[in-house]
Amino acid sequence: MSLANRDLVTLDDFSNAEIDGLFSLANIMNKSIDKQSSICKNKIMASLFFEPSTRTRLSFETAMHRLGGHVISAVDIGSTSLAKGESIADMARVLGSYADIIVIRHPWEGAAKVVADYADVPVINAGDGGHEHPTQTLCDLYTIKSERHSIEGLRIALCGDLKYGRTIHSLAYALARFGANILFQSYPGLEIPEHVLRKLITNYNGTLKMSEDLKQETQKGVFPLNSIYITPGSPHQLAMMPDVNIQIETEANVDALYVTRLQKERSSNNLNKHEEEDNYPVVDKKLLREKRFKQTLVMHPLPRVDELACEVDADPRSMYFKQAAFGVPVRMALISLLLGGSNITTNEDISRLSKPKQMIYKRNSGLKCHNPLCVSNQDSEIKYIKPEFKIISIGPLRLSCIYCEHENNPLYIASSLWHEGGLKYKKYHSANSHLIKRIKPENLILFESAISAQSQGFEPSNYVGTSHSTLNIKR
Ligand code: NCD
Repeated sequence: MSLANRDLVTLDDFSNAEIDGLFSLANIMNKSIDKQSSICKNKIMASLFFEPSTRTRLSFETAMHRLGGHVISAVDIGSTSLAKGESIADMARVLGSYADIIVIRHPWEGAAKVVADYADVPVINAGDGGHEHPTQTLCDLYTIKSERHSIEGLRIALCGDLKYGRTIHSLAYALARFGANILFQSYPGLEIPEHVLRKLITNYNGTLKMSEDLKQETQKGVFPLNSIYITPGSPHQLAMMPDVNIQIETEANVDALYVTRLQKERSSNNLNKHEEEDNYPVVDKKLLREKRFKQTLVMHPLPRVDELACEVDADPRSMYFKQAAFGVPVRMALISLLLGGSNITTNEDISRLSKPKQMIYKRNSGLKCHNPLCVSNQDSEIKYIKPEFKIISIGPLRLSCIYCEHENNPLYIASSLWHEGGLKYKKYHSANSHLIKRIKPENLILFESAISAQSQGFEPSNYVGTSHSTLNIKR
């Protein structure tokens, strides 16, 4: 199977079998790293890193050199025409005519998708703000697989800043896809975003145990356990006996402990920054003496600050330098696949690969993404990016921005049928009303507020009730 000319913006772009195929190729690259220099001969990679990076950038660049290719790079927005107000779409079009493949890290969430939409060459997301970091996840999965062979059924704890840590978001989706159970242990206030949890349940059909049931685990000095994702079919205490004492669950063995640093650069809450830094727990030898961590792989995407004690480095359970080293063979495999220099064989049934169709909402009815860091909200980009949302559910009405995946829950709805003379008046209704099921998805018009509906010439119907459903995920 060929992955040539594909993009990797999120891991959703690859099937599980394709990821496994990529790992088999990474094994080959790893064994003979200095014998691959003809695979991407004369190919050029544009390496654009508009946020700090050591491992990701240099392992991508090393990978391209090892494959015999060349690298052109920009590492500072200030040195590019983006600083003059150029859109990233224009930059993508131009670079697509210089390079054969583009790797981009950018602070705006969804920026890599825009580059992929506009460049005619494969694009790899090397981190888009706090959204995703799929190639770090490839290195993480590869590390776990190389130690444990399979991910299915493992219990993996994700610790630290789960709110802004993009490696966490990509890894959580991937672990759920590969059938792992996930323990979310965040620093208080930096819990995993609701839209990430919701995607786990919606797309991967697991169940979620939330914080109220997990209260007893708030020991000082430890990242408290605030939710557990239980993979479907897991022979799991909680899945089998929902009322079982949670204590049993929290004492069970942990296969991997994935630690992350406080993402200071993304937190807007400057007042609490020092408090967060001072109180952020540390994973050290003492913690790892607990019985449940006896066989645990200690992982970290790096860079670490103080959250992972240096004394753990010599412990055979520490995996983080291995994870970083795997960056080169894994990225070599990825680049060579996207450039068509290598192929993979999978037994996958191609018909199963077509993604389930999700309705997209892209009418110009004033709906905007609420995430200020989303690429769709940036001055240089709003000229050409029209907000677009996936409709995740209609009862309650939930949308997800196609760029950053943040949720939007519009309050009011209408039907476009009035355009065609089927309805007498332009009326809007509550998104909670039964009419949501009566309006065909292709006719649906969504409004942020009553004012927005009225400013577009719509009048309230008898179904504009004031209440709106709240999100169902409780903390
Ligand atoms: C991570 C990143 O940039 O998101 N680093 C990396 O790519 N290995 C993690 C981090 O910066 O904390």
